[in-house]
Amino acid sequence: MCGIVGYAGVNRAVPYLLDGLEKLEYRGYDSAGIAVVENGALRITKTRGRISFLASLVASEHQSPATVGIGHTRWATHGKPSDANAHPHQSGSGRFCVVHNGIIENYLQLKAALQADGVVFRSETDTEVIAHLLDKNWDGDFVSTVRKATGQLEGAYAICVLCSDFPDRIVCTRWGSPLVLGTCDAGTFIGSDVTAILQHTSDVYYLDGHETALVTKDGAVFYDKTGAAIEKQPTRIAWNLAAAQKGGYEHFMLKEIMEQPQAFADTVSPRISADKRIVFEDFHLTDDDIRALRRVAIVACGSAYHAGAVGKYVMEKLARLPVEIDIASEFRYRDPVLDAQTLVIVISQSGETADTLAALRLANGRGCKTLCIVNVVSSSIANEGSSVIYTHAGPEIAVATTKAYCAQVAVLYLIAGYLAEKRGLLSEEARRAYVAELEALPAKISETLSQCDAQIQELSQMFIPLEHAYFIGRNLDYACAMEASLKLKEISYIHSEAYAAGELKHGTISLIEQGTLVVALAACDDVFSKTMSNIKEVKARGARVLAVSTAGHTDAMGEVDFRLLIPATDPLFAVTLEVLPMQLLSYYTARSRGCDIDKPRNLAKSVTVE
Ligand code: G6P
Repeated sequence: MCGIVGYAGVNRAVPYLLDGLEKLEYRGYDSAGIAVVENGALRITKTRGRISFLASLVASEHQSPATVGIGHTRWATHGKPSDANAHPHQSGSGRFCVVHNGIIENYLQLKAALQADGVVFRSETDTEVIAHLLDKNWDGDFVSTVRKATGQLEGAYAICVLCSDFPDRIVCTRWGSPLVLGTCDAGTFIGSDVTAILQHTSDVYYLDGHETALVTKDGAVFYDKTGAAIEKQPTRIAWNLAAAQKGGYEHFMLKEIMEQPQAFADTVSPRISADKRIVFEDFHLTDDDIRALRRVAIVACGSAYHAGAVGKYVMEKLARLPVEIDIASEFRYRDPVLDAQTLVIVISQSGETADTLAALRLANGRGCKTLCIVNVVSSSIANEGSSVIYTHAGPEIAVATTKAYCAQVAVLYLIAGYLAEKRGLLSEEARRAYVAELEALPAKISETLSQCDAQIQELSQMFIPLEHAYFIGRNLDYACAMEASLKLKEISYIHSEAYAAGELKHGTISLIEQGTLVVALAACDDVFSKTMSNIKEVKARGARVLAVSTAGHTDAMGEVDFRLLIPATDPLFAVTLEVLPMQLLSYYTARSRGCDIDKPRNLAKSVTVE
């Protein structure tokens, strides 16, 4: 949520700032701004709207020669998207300006105290208090002033600060929200994630909580939370720049859909040993711990929660452990029953989702074993779990997740097989067959994508004029229905609902009328005939039905209006294939409706607020 960039170097700062902001725009895109120091004064350009609009404004307003600057792209929390609420925010004296990612929870108290001192506020944001606190704590030392000011903040923040007295430097610090730095010949770059820096260097410094960095063209000096100077070691980022570029595709989303065979294979293959066992480098549960487990709780948000729903069915089936799944924002406030025999699995692409992070902290605090499935290396969630298993999906830029979801599901299959084996529930033969199926899936994912692409483009035509759509399924098909429905609504703005097929008749079926479009996910063999009964129920009420299943069920699907077949696979894995046409369906529908696919309205990729 919100993207931050900073540059202190030997070249003009403005092009770097705009370029970095474009790369971070998926974090938030309702307003944007940059600031530099020119002739001893801060020069700020900010506006409501996208980075492209800011860029045109900057181009017409100034060609600043400044070589140091900061920038921000915003996802509004406190105050509507407007020029005044856009960052950077300047202090009353004009000496400081700040860009901020996160939420200052005590901003109302701080604002009241500052107003009582006569400070005049120009925006509705929580961030503006930081700018005025910098004035209030000004002691002539840039770093010490930032440390004193942030010492009064409660909540989460990653900030970059410019000071007109020091035109050659930026001070940045963080707590709760991420900040990454990288140095190369052109200077020092700051970003709220590595995608802003990757094209300049792959060796980055992750700022830890309450650490501060003084950034100049020559590099960064780091200070720990006591203010003592510290040495930090860079981390080499394995992601390459091409992975964060469109590579000829019209949208990142389509590129990322097509990258799923690779994401699945890269996630699974390092965890399969030569003798076809599932192995994890960083799974800090002993075999005794695993045998002593009484249950699993999976906690996540959005599509990661839907991946968790797949995990629940697979884990219960294989490892015979009761698995609860929870939406993180519910879990954290419902006083869940947790103990040392509960394994809490937290799933997050970004590793920064505020509710998921809070759920993890709650579980850690209750003495649970915690295991995090994360895509972004060294993110907050990855750093705080007792074990972390990385999905190797590479950078995901489109706001609507596809390949990271796919990789999350891959890890959940691995964990289910691993737990089942350790609990003595998977024979040697069954394990080999399970692993063989996992290893065969990337090819089947490719096959599904290429097979169904043209048909989906055609089927998407009937979704274009829709106002409502329904997705139904049972068990794993229901987990897929939830993800399919979310994908359609988030990028095409068509209202859609996912229902457990057997539950529809308890109310929602009253919405089915002549011509209503129902997508029935029906790839689970053991509940196929039950789902077919539900299809008959909606058809009897006038619905048009698109059913997704495997070729083996072709004859039995006689009733449906449209059918879409996926390759044959073990029924436990069919969900990984049937979700693919659903992603493409959302994509093509949204494209035909002229939607902004990679940056849907009101959304942000990394949700660092509650
Ligand atoms: C946002 C994204 C979703 C994502 C969810 C959870 O809403 O748009 O695609 O599933 O956050 O994000 P996480 O980074 O925790 O997986």
